[in-house]
Amino acid sequence: MNNNIISKEKFTFSNKEKLNNIISQYPDKKSATLPLLHLAQSENGYISDAVINTVSDFVDCHPAVVMDCVSFYTMFYTKPQGRHIIQICQTLSCSLNGADALVDEVTDKYDIKPGQTTEDGKFTLIKVECLGSCGTAPVAQINNEYHERLSQKKLNNLLDSHK
Ligand code: FES
Repeated sequence: MNNNIISKEKFTFSNKEKLNNIISQYPDKKSATLPLLHLAQSENGYISDAVINTVSDFVDCHPAVVMDCVSFYTMFYTKPQGRHIIQICQTLSCSLNGADALVDEVTDKYDIKPGQTTEDGKFTLIKVECLGSCGTAPVAQINNEYHERLSQKKLNNLLDSHK
């Protein structure tokens, strides 16, 4: 992402119905920032400069304010991601129950480090903080699905099932 905000590009939402629905739900325009960013990311795959500019227009604030939101929340991506996003929890419970071995499994299998995407654009690996399921550690989230009490073998099989 360009931190100098010199891009004037704009993003066009394709789902106008959802867009209008979000806009109509928030009398205070700024309150629509997060839902608009979620919608934009679901359509664009990540939060580009064009998305920042367009969302800032909708919520009537400076693009830097929208960028602050994007950089605060780890669920927003500022660069293109793989088709499948593998998030592995690194917080205490998961860490004590083998999270590092899960990360190693992915890095060895696909030759990528956390934060990287495979050359074919299929997988992105991300280390994340607590996914809120500490009692079933170690936990990973692949796309929108949780996978609990993971072993390296279980993770490996799961990854093979993602085409
Ligand atoms: Fe991993 Fe909470 S520590 S889910």
